[in-house]
Amino acid sequence: MLRRSLMVSLVALVAYFVTPTYISAQAKYVGTKVCGMCHKSEKQGQQLKIWSESKHAQAYKTLLTAKADDIAKKKGGKKAVETPECLKCHVGEKALLESAFKEDGVQCETCHGAGSEYKAMAIMKNKEEAVKKGLIIPKDTEKFCKTCHNPESPSYKEFKFADMWKKIVHTTPKG
Ligand code: HEC
Ligand code: HEC
Ligand code: HEC
Ligand code: HEC
Repeated sequence: MLRRSLMVSLVALVAYFVTPTYISAQAKYVGTKVCGMCHKSEKQGQQLKIWSESKHAQAYKTLLTAKADDIAKKKGGKKAVETPECLKCHVGEKALLESAFKEDGVQCETCHGAGSEYKAMAIMKNKEEAVKKGLIIPKDTEKFCKTCHNPESPSYKEFKFADMWKKIVHTTPKG
């Protein structure tokens, strides 16, 4: 009896530590079109439209400009789109840069995490499950924004959180 319950707790313990890393290692980027299939209606809050009209959607294209290349040249010599330190803020982490979606710049999954494991309707409707499968919902929003909106950005001025959040707010309507 004792041995059996010990086995059960051991299995639970192993599952607890192994599952989350296993899943995040498997999670793949799916792109804004997939997120947008469900997050575009007025009822859902039109996240796709709000995002596509925001500067975040242009962040990769910005790196293709002469202005960007001038900044990059001073930093190290390569073209801006080939400079990893520009790309990490203008697109996201390495796996996203290696995906088919990098030209979408700062996209849904840059902020919410790779979606292959949480994008199914049944999981999305259960926030706790979705988070377990890799959905990121930043807790301290301002602090989160400042992981990119900070003086490490060559064009940084001041980041006024309230004003900036208003420009990209994309909440789901209540009711
Ligand atoms: C199959 C449809 C579907 C797809 C695809 C989908 N979602 Fe969702 N998502 C939903 C639904 C439904 C909810 C629950 C909304 C609600 O609270 O009514 C949701 C909720 C969310 C939430 C809020 C979680 C919470 O409860 O606070 C975030 C963030 C989110 N989705 C991001 C994404 C991202 C990013 C993608 C693409 C990787 C994506 N979704 C793809 C249907 C979908
Ligand atoms: C992964 C990095 C990253 C994160 C995280 C991020 N941003 Fe940005 N943001 C950018 C980049 C890069 C640009 C510039 C895009 C361009 O102009 O090409 C930008 C531009 C903007 C702009 C347009 C600038 C303007 O003056 O109108 C707003 C608004 C904005 N971000 C708000 C936010 C808010 C609010 C958050 C937090 C919820 C946030 N951003 C999080 C990278 C990021
Ligand atoms: C720490 C994150 C971060 C890094 C690193 C970064 N950027 Fe940005 N970039 C931003 C943000 C945020 C904005 C928009 C708001 C701002 O200027 O602070 C932006 C805006 C820009 C703009 C538009 C500015 C304007 O006035 O129109 C250009 C061009 C640009 N970045 C080029 C680059 C280049 C080139 C690099 C690499 C050498 C780079 N950025 C590195 C975050 C970053
Ligand atoms: C620059 C980062 C950023 C981008 C890009 C972004 N989001 Fe969000 N998203 C956030 C933050 C921050 C929150 C707010 C968390 C909170 O309310 O505490 C949020 C909230 C949400 C919510 C929940 C709203 C609610 O009512 O609680 C949904 C759904 C969502 N995002 C979907 C998307 C989809 C779909 C895309 C792409 C079309 C996207 N997001 C792009 C940062 C981002």
